[in-house]
Amino acid sequence: MPVSFTQHSLGSRIDQQLSGFLDTWRATVSDPDVEAAYRLLADFVLGGGKRIRPQLCYWGWRGAGGEDCEEIIKAAAALELCHAGLLIHDDIMDGSALRRGRVTVHKNLAGLHQGPGAEAFGQAGGILLGTLSLAWSDAMLSSCGVEPPRLRAAHHIFDAMRTEVISGQYLDMLAQLRSGASVPEALMVIRYKTAKYTVERPLQIGGALAGAPPELLESYSRFGVPLGEAFQLRDDVLSTFGTAAETGKSALDDLREGKHTVLIAHAVRRASPAQRAQLKRWHGNPELTEEGAAELRGVLLDTGAVARVEEMIEQRVREAVQALAEAQIKPEALSALTVLADRLAHRTK
Ligand code: IPE
Ligand code: IPE
Ligand code: MG
Ligand code: MG
Repeated sequence: MPVSFTQHSLGSRIDQQLSGFLDTWRATVSDPDVEAAYRLLADFVLGGGKRIRPQLCYWGWRGAGGEDCEEIIKAAAALELCHAGLLIHDDIMDGSALRRGRVTVHKNLAGLHQGPGAEAFGQAGGILLGTLSLAWSDAMLSSCGVEPPRLRAAHHIFDAMRTEVISGQYLDMLAQLRSGASVPEALMVIRYKTAKYTVERPLQIGGALAGAPPELLESYSRFGVPLGEAFQLRDDVLSTFGTAAETGKSALDDLREGKHTVLIAHAVRRASPAQRAQLKRWHGNPELTEEGAAELRGVLLDTGAVARVEEMIEQRVREAVQALAEAQIKPEALSALTVLADRLAHRTK
């Protein structure tokens, strides 16, 4: 049984808010092709995803004593629009063809047109739809209905989050150019591109909306950063060793792209000259074959890089759970977040 991330009712309430919000923008321009593009975006947003960030935002609110209500569900759902925009842009930057088990948005747009301009059209359209989704996420958060001073505090954190994730994505691209990122460098990339954006900031946004004191926001950070790193380390392992049926992404993407993950950084450090030659031959090679990928996976296992990353995941989950246990947080949120921590680090998709 695949791990289910969304408590059923929370997940469907988030989806209802998203679908209601997207409906309000559907008729902005009456051109059938524009309408089709909006539908494509709505299908991408509503057609998959684990809804991790909205759930964390919700529990950040509850942890600070906020009562269950639709205002927090709407604010939490806004984070999913931000996420969708970032994913659409990421897939263009990474040249990925598959996301959430389906054709990526920019490839889908390219497929709507024939001829030599199709690919450029897909990318340009994807940039626009991703930007639209990011803009709508801001509009959705701003209209969630939480009282203005708390909303302002949360919005500051939302601003910081977007700056951090975009900086992290930029660092990720740079790492590809600067050959041979070290483990500390690779960790810095994932702290910004994933940990803060996926766990720390969503929790803090929920907390700030509920008027959480600075100490609780600090505890959310001590929980969120190590757990967010564990989440990305798991993602790196799954993206390389999982199947597309499990992850919804191609198992060759990270290797073919030559992504400088923590996993790869460990392998490079521990590789024998022969293993180093295998890494050099295949990692980042656009012609990577299934056989080449199997060789690379062998190197990752034989150098002990995978085992080391598994240790790093466990160490970070322990650190996160410990920080949570010390936090001044409502008991129902403590137990929900403890369960979530385990699922995020040990997921299979
Ligand atoms: C993917 O995030 C991007 C990363 C930061 C690893 P998720 O794994 O939360 O993606 P979805 O929303 O479930 O597709
Ligand atoms: C990451 O998406 C997107 C963001 C962090 C916004 P992926 O799931 O494709 O992960 P990468 O591209 O390997 O980091
Ligand atoms: Mg990617
Ligand atoms: Mg990327």
